[in-house]
Amino acid sequence: MRLETLATLLSVCSLAACGTTPKEEDPDWWKHATFYQIYPRSFQDSTNDGIGDLQGIIDKIDLFPDAGVDAVWLSPIFDSPQVDQGYDISNYTDIDSDYGTIEDLQKLVEEANARGVKVILDFVPNHTSDKHQWFIDSVNGVEEYRDYYIWANAKTGDDGERLPPNNWISMFKNSAWTWNEERQQYYLHQFASAQPDLNYRNPKVVEAMKDVLRFWLDRGIDGFRIDAVPYLFEDPDLQDEPLSNSTGYNSTDYEYLDHIYTKDLYDTFDMIYQWRQVVDDYTKENGGSTRVLMTEAYTDADKIMLYYGTADGSRLGAHFTFNFNLITDININSTAEDIASSINKWLDGIPEIYTSNWVLGNHDNHRVATRLGPGNIDGLNMVKALLPGVAVTYNGEEIGQEDGEVSYEEGQDPSARDPAIFDQVSRDFERTPYQWDESVNAGFNTGAKPWLPVSEKYLETNLQDEKESNGSSHYKVYQALAKIRSDPILVSGDVEVKAVDEYTLLVKRSNEEASLVVVFNVGDAEVTVDVSADVAEDNSVKIASVDSSREAGSVVDPASLKLDAHEALVIAS
Ligand code: GLC
Ligand code: CA
Repeated sequence: MRLETLATLLSVCSLAACGTTPKEEDPDWWKHATFYQIYPRSFQDSTNDGIGDLQGIIDKIDLFPDAGVDAVWLSPIFDSPQVDQGYDISNYTDIDSDYGTIEDLQKLVEEANARGVKVILDFVPNHTSDKHQWFIDSVNGVEEYRDYYIWANAKTGDDGERLPPNNWISMFKNSAWTWNEERQQYYLHQFASAQPDLNYRNPKVVEAMKDVLRFWLDRGIDGFRIDAVPYLFEDPDLQDEPLSNSTGYNSTDYEYLDHIYTKDLYDTFDMIYQWRQVVDDYTKENGGSTRVLMTEAYTDADKIMLYYGTADGSRLGAHFTFNFNLITDININSTAEDIASSINKWLDGIPEIYTSNWVLGNHDNHRVATRLGPGNIDGLNMVKALLPGVAVTYNGEEIGQEDGEVSYEEGQDPSARDPAIFDQVSRDFERTPYQWDESVNAGFNTGAKPWLPVSEKYLETNLQDEKESNGSSHYKVYQALAKIRSDPILVSGDVEVKAVDEYTLLVKRSNEEASLVVVFNVGDAEVTVDVSADVAEDNSVKIASVDSSREAGSVVDPASLKLDAHEALVIAS
């Protein structure tokens, strides 16, 4: 253990008098936590080679307690040829040299834990890299690995030509099958051809992947974000999928088909329930706090709930499945009613036994400040912080970072390697380096060309300015929100979400004693609203958006509340 860490622990212990028995952790710690997604490649480059790394995260570790987050989730840092930026893994139990070593990760866990912050890793179970030894052995017909992947014979076309086994299409466009010369068969890949799908109907694969979870649990990891879960299982008979009849797509587009044989199959839910068992058993056997599973599934509401578990709770899956509704339902033209109904749809749909969660962005979607307008960032962060359950932040949201500017030539995303679709589908824009300060490359490193360009906006938007500004800043608003999240009203109070006029959204949390209300004008024009039904005369502004004329402590007239364009307030009464 490093000396500083020991010192921190000792000082914590002397305060809390923990010396003898360690303080029992709250098993529900995650239910009202803020999870912060770090995209390691773009976070902090300590070696100045253009790629962010684990030491970089350690160097910036104080950001997490300072911002008030409870846990960080790291996008994949494992051995990878980086075809899909680490979502193509060639060894699940080692760290890619781009990012550092296992020792670096252990140091990161130690430093984070010493500051009360937990570390979650990305688990990518659907596919490996085509450079994984399992795949190489499978290609070569090594008995143990022969059926680790989904292999199928070619079909023969009318003119004797070789055709894929069926019509399935990859998420990244074109056939989901790639011919392999050595094995003289096709293999399935629901994503890039360099990401062959594992065969979950093979019990050896199931066991090997459970071992991956245990490997990282043994190294002090507090949970996993599970990647792309809907695609784990496919129809064993490889039946053709029917056409979706969605307009505007051609036969090479994923949307062209209705994915009844490749997405959300029953066995997939069961696999998540088995993984839950693995982490719960681990906690039972080893003690410590609850290890958390969060699943990524862009799918229908009923399926999202099934990834949580069965409605009666007899089988549990993920602790939470990301709620992407505020990404998929809302755009820059949305009214307050659109936003309220998106939120209420979620709240009405979730069984009482499960915990809600709120996501505004991630490495696969345009940044929220760009999608919904930079002026709305504080209001959106307020809404996210006040809604019940888990809040998820994508790195940069706390400072209102917008998408970067990336040309086709600079782009890296394998799903967009075609100039005709680049602007529309590339995920490079939301992956540009974190904006730390005004120095070279926004403080991402000390001058080497970053793997994606730094956004030109870094002089206007960066952490250091926002921390040091005399006035308000997005970061200060974010910090203030983190502080009030432990208020009992927000932990367990009632929730009500509604539009009070076309562009004014109201989120109310209350218990018998008091209430906290967000009033948020998402629109471009000043409004005057009557919120006297929800805000008392005797009130006090707790937090105001950066351009607001109000300050903490000021009192508003609830019967005639004037809000500037994009102004948002958290009001206590
Ligand atoms: C998930 C990841 C995405 C990746 C895909 C394939 O959707 O978030 O970045 O491309 O899975 O692994
Ligand atoms: Ca699969």
